[in-house]
Order: sequence, then C-alpha cells, then structure tokens
Amino acid sequence: MENGTLKVVDSRTNASYELPLFKGTIRAADLRTVKTSADDFGVMSYDPAFMNTASCQSAVTFIDGDKGILRYRGYPIEQLAEKCSFLEVAYLLLHGELPTESELKSWIDAITHHTMLHEYFKKFLEGFRLASHPMGMFVSAVAALSTYYPEAKNVLDPEVRKLEIYRLIGKVPTIAAYTYRHGLGFPYVYPDNDLGYTENFMNMLWKMVEPKYRANPVLARALDILFILHADHEQNCSTNVMRSVGSSLADPFVSVAAAAAALSGPLHGGANEAVLKMLDEIGSKDRVPAYVEHVKAGHGKLMGFGHRVYKHYDPRARIIKWTADQVFKVTGSNPKLDIALELERIALEDEYFVKRKLYPNVDFYSGIIYQALGFQPAMFTVLFAIPRTVGWLAQWQELLQDSEQKIARPRQIYVGHEARDFVPIEKRGAAAAPPAR
Ligand code: ACO
Repeated sequence: MENGTLKVVDSRTNASYELPLFKGTIRAADLRTVKTSADDFGVMSYDPAFMNTASCQSAVTFIDGDKGILRYRGYPIEQLAEKCSFLEVAYLLLHGELPTESELKSWIDAITHHTMLHEYFKKFLEGFRLASHPMGMFVSAVAALSTYYPEAKNVLDPEVRKLEIYRLIGKVPTIAAYTYRHGLGFPYVYPDNDLGYTENFMNMLWKMVEPKYRANPVLARALDILFILHADHEQNCSTNVMRSVGSSLADPFVSVAAAAAALSGPLHGGANEAVLKMLDEIGSKDRVPAYVEHVKAGHGKLMGFGHRVYKHYDPRARIIKWTADQVFKVTGSNPKLDIALELERIALEDEYFVKRKLYPNVDFYSGIIYQALGFQPAMFTVLFAIPRTVGWLAQWQELLQDSEQKIARPRQIYVGHEARDFVPIEKRGAAAAPPAR
C-alpha cells in the first residue's frame, strides 16, 4: 500500500489491527474498529489543544516549524514579502495562483469598490464608549455586517461567497480605521478609491483637514509587508475557530468575527500588545537580565516568544526586523527596540529558552513598528486582524469545497458524576464529593 499501514495490537484482547496510514496520519475514525466486544464504542484519540491532530487537508499554507519555513501556496514568504503587494498575496491565498496583470487589476478594482460602510453603520459604532478596546469594537462590527448582507447566509453559492469575500477584505480596514478614530474622538474618513489598499487604510486613519492624504511610501510599504506576513498561518487558533464556526454553515461575517475574537487573546494575536506592555514594564536595557530571571522563576512568560509550531526562528520575525529598520529611518528609532534586542540576545543564549526552543515570534517586533507608526498598543491586534481576514477566508472557502468536511464536533472523555437523583433545595449544601477524574 502506497502509504503503508500501522499494526496495532490490543493488549486487552490480543487482537491485531492494520490501520491504513494516509500521508503520515491514521484516521481517528479507524480507531473505532479497535473494540473489546461488538457493542463496545471503540477506541478514540484524546488530544487536548490538538497537539498532534490534523483537522483538514489544506493547500493554502505550508509551515516547517523545525526549519523555520513558511510558504503561501508553495511560495516562500521571503519572496512574497519582497516582491508582492498585499492584495497580490491575498489573491494568491484565495485563488491558489498569483494573478496575471489583468486579474490583479480587476481584483484590486473589486476590493476597492467594496470599502465603504453603510451610513447607518457609523451610528452603530458611535454607541461604543470612547475608551472601548478597538478589538472588541472590531469583533462586534464585523459580526454586525452580517445584518447588512442577509444573502451572505447562502454560503454554498460560489457567487455569493465571492461577493462577501470582496466585502470583507474591502471593509475590514474601514472598520479598523473607524475604531481607531472613535477612540480619539475624530470624525470618520471615507475611503479614497484613488489610493492602494494600505495607503487608503492610512488615509482613513490619519487624514485630518488636508484635501488629499499622501502616505509616506516607505511607511506604506512597511505596513503592506506586515500585512503580507500576517495573512495566513495554517491551522492556528483563530483559523481553527473560522473553520469550526464555518462548518456549521454560519455566514462569513459572524465566522470572521468569531475568528477575530480568538485572535484577540494574549496567547495569540493579542501577544503584540502584551509585548509592548512587557517592554514598558522592563523599562530599560539594564533591567533585562533580571526580567528574564523573573520569567524563568515561573512568573509569567516572555511575550512574543515561543510558538506551537516553530521550534526555530520564526521567518516572519526576521523580515519584520528588516522592515523595522526601514521604518525607523523615517520615524527615528523606538527606544523599546534596544530593550527588545537585548531581550532577544539574552534569551537566545539562555539554557532555559534554548532547551525549550523558544525563539521570537511574529509578535515580538511587530508592536515596536506599529508604535513607531503612531499606533497605541490597543490597536495592534486589529492591525493583525485586517490581513488575517484573507487567510480566514481562504481556509473557509477551502473548507466549504472539501467533501470530507462536516460540522466540527469533537468527542469528549466524560469525567463527571454517574447518574444520581435530584436533591430538593432544602436538602442541598451537604458537602457533595466532586466527581473522581
Ligand atoms: N516564555 C517563557 N516560557 C515559555 C514561553 C515564553 N514565552 N513559551 C513557552 N514557554 C515554556 C512553557 O512554560 C513550557 O515550559 P515547561 O516545559 O517547563 O512547562 C514550554 O516552554 C513549552 O510551552 P507550552 O506552553 O507547552 O507551548 P505551547 O505550544 O502550548 O504554547 C505559545 C505556545 C502559546 C505561543 C507559548 O509559547 C506562549 O504563551 N508564548 C507567549 C505568547 C505569545 O507570544 N503568543 C504569540 C504566538 S504567535 C501568534 O499567535 C501570532
């Protein structure tokens, strides 16, 4: 057999089984054939946090975490970051191939003509308190878009999907910019169709009274590169949520909102905000060694370090470092960079981090650039969510076209009480023993 088999002997029955291997995996459902009797449920696999479980076959993104390799549709991230625009990469992720010149032109045109938000939408955003966290506003606003486009529920119609993909990619920068300006009490700025995707985003963020906003080309390119680096990362926490919610055939707006909610956590996309807080807490270069010792003693984590998949330098972190240099030539250096560099130097030489293969991840340097560009840390995860919307949509589309996929529904190992009789309220309160685990 091309993929071979795995021979399993059940010590309970001495029965042996040949489980077919498929691309280095066994199908968990095949374990159900391993039974002690005809009415036995069969063996299940137990894998909290999906440490070793493939939930899908995907052709979108390849990661080799041991070698530090990241490719979108086969193309190395380094080449894409150097040679492509973000929308070109978005096309690649969603369509599987790089666009021709005319394909790119009509793709950009389609996205550009879906950047406006309904006028009533501004009223929705105005309801948020001034100090609202932009990520909470972003998640809610993307979910609210679902109410504006009820036809989006027809997720099995490829034409509907195409339109909603244009809308989501077009509108997330507008939502992000509005959440930013809301916090500052500034009036919202409408999209400018003369500008490219990233320049237009900067226009909506920073235009004041000038008739036409002109982005600094170095800063616009830096942001575009950051968008490319954040566009997809195979089956991470938020993408898994996108697929899971999408598997119920929920519309793409609420599915993206759910994925963005997952992204907001400090162990995922919220880490870039946490890195800045950590650098502030450290305060100066000379205090780095003490901070590292503090972490090693079990007090918190080095934010922006470590990754479930990368056990090597995150290739995105390397490109971000290069991008930071370009940005700082325009903005002047961010003093936090010195602390970050020292932290990286010390951690990479330290036995604790070396042994656990903990390297800087994408979030370690991105926050420093965002801050140099003028963003408050609370905005950082929103800046991550804009490009990652493309990855979520590419994975969602792949899911809906995959005949093997069904509604996501894991199993559990029940460790609660056995059946027991109802206790009337006046008889409750006697110390009930917790269930044995
Ligand atoms: N600082 C200090 N120790 C760490 C760190 C860190 N940043 N990350 C992991 N470790 C330690 C753990 O304590 C554990 O040590 P132990 O074996 O002595 O118990 C060991 O390294 C393995 O770590 P796990 O938590 O088991 O690794 P897991 O794959 O579950 O977690 C994660 C990965 C969540 C990214 C983790 O490294 C982390 O919390 N990092 C900090 C947050 C962060 O930067 N997140 C962004 C990730 S990239 C992204 O989502 C875009």
